[in-house]
Amino acid sequence: MTKKIVVLISGNGSNLQAIMDAIEAKKINNAEIALVVSNKESAYGLERARKKGIPTLIKLLKPYKDSGRTRIDYDIDLADEIVGRVGQQPDLQVLAGFMHILSKEYLQKFTANVINLHPALPGCFDGAQAIERAFDAFTRGLISETGVMVHKVIPQVDRGEPIVQRHVPIYESDTLADLESRIHAVEHELLVEGTIRMLNN
Ligand code: GRF
Repeated sequence: MTKKIVVLISGNGSNLQAIMDAIEAKKINNAEIALVVSNKESAYGLERARKKGIPTLIKLLKPYKDSGRTRIDYDIDLADEIVGRVGQQPDLQVLAGFMHILSKEYLQKFTANVINLHPALPGCFDGAQAIERAFDAFTRGLISETGVMVHKVIPQVDRGEPIVQRHVPIYESDTLADLESRIHAVEHELLVEGTIRMLNN
């Protein structure tokens, strides 16, 4: 059976693109992206999915907040909509730059793993702006390198069991842009590797 992957995004979708390319290149076998979910209407990753004929789901948090409903209400509805649209429990969910913290109520709705890409090493720079914060720490002499990891998602942000990780050097001559592009290149490889590992489990 072809395994069903759901990819959740909020922005450019270059990591989504890396997974799509890996499937096309048969680096990821016996799997398809069944649905791309975004919490931002403007996410360019939605366009990337549409070009490939991959179904998309946009789900905004704002209408929930505007109507006095909670993030948990949103998470529960999102989980139900994903299973409804895919027609089954996903075999894997991949958070590829998904800028929304998923609750335990969301995670409890699923049997298979949810994995997340975090542009830092385990235990470092949890949360948003990780690359910028690592660059700032480097310029202060607090760290000599940073990294990227793919981990299993648990309710505690960026603290789930690492599946794969890689150190990324920072050089004195680096600008933030230099570090970002070095990290993004590693992300694209690592997210594909993490996806393959989880699908092969
Ligand atoms: C990546 O750096 C990811 O780690 C971070 O946001 C960026 C997403 O990039 N959370 P993209 O949308 O996959 O291009």
